[in-house]
Amino acid sequence: MEMLMLCLHSILFFIFLVSLNINISSAKTSYNVLTYGARPNGKTDSTQAFLDAWTAACGSTAPTMIYIPKGRYLLGSVAFTGGNCKSPDITIRIDGTLIAPEDYRILGLASNWLSFEGVSGVSIVGGALDAKGSPLWDCKSKGSNCPAGATTLSFVNSNNIKIDGLLSLNSQMFHIVINGCQNVKVQGVRVIAAGDSPNTDGIHVQLSTDVAIMNSSIKTGDDCISIGPGTKNLWIERVRCGPGHGISIGSLAKTMDEPGVQNVTVKSTIFTGTTNGFRIKSWARHSTGFVQAIRFIGATMINVQNPIIIDQNYCPHNLNCPNQVSGIQISDVMYQGIRGTSATPVAIKFDCSFKYPCKGIRLQNVNLTYFNKEAQSTCTNAIGKTYGQVQPDNCL
Ligand SMILES: *[C@@H]1O[C@H](CO)[C@@H](O)[C@H](O)[C@H]1NC(C)=O
Ligand SMILES: *[C@@H]1O[C@H](CO)[C@@H](O)[C@H](O)[C@H]1NC(C)=O
Ligand SMILES: *[C@@H]1O[C@H](CO)[C@@H](O)[C@H](O)[C@H]1NC(C)=O
Repeated sequence: MEMLMLCLHSILFFIFLVSLNINISSAKTSYNVLTYGARPNGKTDSTQAFLDAWTAACGSTAPTMIYIPKGRYLLGSVAFTGGNCKSPDITIRIDGTLIAPEDYRILGLASNWLSFEGVSGVSIVGGALDAKGSPLWDCKSKGSNCPAGATTLSFVNSNNIKIDGLLSLNSQMFHIVINGCQNVKVQGVRVIAAGDSPNTDGIHVQLSTDVAIMNSSIKTGDDCISIGPGTKNLWIERVRCGPGHGISIGSLAKTMDEPGVQNVTVKSTIFTGTTNGFRIKSWARHSTGFVQAIRFIGATMINVQNPIIIDQNYCPHNLNCPNQVSGIQISDVMYQGIRGTSATPVAIKFDCSFKYPCKGIRLQNVNLTYFNKEAQSTCTNAIGKTYGQVQPDNCL
């Protein structure tokens, strides 16, 4: 009996040691911004404290965590750069809200509010970013002399990034930008801005590979997600859009020499009251760009003005493009399992380039109606096929 008890004891002790060890090895060295002088009162500028915490976390060779406790932190425009970072893994855990200065001109003249440049292994977990953009939108709507405005959160030339459970409120310009990055996971993000706020795209991706955007909700005044040149292997799943302009590949052909967009999958999207559902848009201009291997799978459209649209003749104000055709070759684009209601009579519109017609368009099990009536489709320079039930009747 005694032997047994002893044996049991050592087993329990062993289990205890193992669990202790697991706890120790998963703990990260933590850098609390309060230690660096940040004040959670919403009034004291905490920009330098955040930068100092970043520098400290970065300088460690171990995985680190920057902790931002509950409270409101006033931050000006700040760039977190990776140049001197040794830490392979920096988690920024935000339990509080970061707020922009009251005077919109302070951020308005900077192009970014919070930017990460050349970083690797950075995760942002939780938190709210309140950019206080509405006075700038008001200024713009009055047409007075207003600054362009700042992107709320951007990652530039960075790898292995996670954004998890973040709330972005009232950005001056774009809410989140992923530019020149590899391996980015955006999960459970919420974006909220007024439906008439200008240029407040939810998430913009460009020149980036292996980006996933999952389980997110985006209510804003411009594109829900905009996909720019040089995007490859983008996966979007379970995103809710609206109000806003929907999910857009483009505008492309902004410049003559432009990398293409390829291998984009958008699954299980819900659009509510958006101007577009799935849009591909290019300027009517020459360009080396292209769009290839795009899958729009499973979507519910509720009162969407242009549920499915390709517009290759974009030429606002007829400037720098009249009488030109788009050089963007669009091919292999699938629309599958898309149902719901169009807010205009034309639910499907393919307006493609005369010089480079859209090729390999595939419509499968699409059912879009217009006020319980049949909707219409229009096609110009579009080649493709339909499979299964497709309403409105295709014009391909
Ligand atoms: C997204 O949500 C679904 C359903 O709630 C869940 O199963 C999945 O794990 C989530 N995705 C991520 C990346 O957390
Ligand atoms: C397309 O992208 C997905 C991720 O979004 C990736 O898993 C897949 O391998 C890519 N396909 C090709 C052919 O590169
Ligand atoms: C298309 O949707 C309408 C409205 O929801 C429905 O009444 C109709 O039966 C559907 N058609 C097909 C072929 O599923």
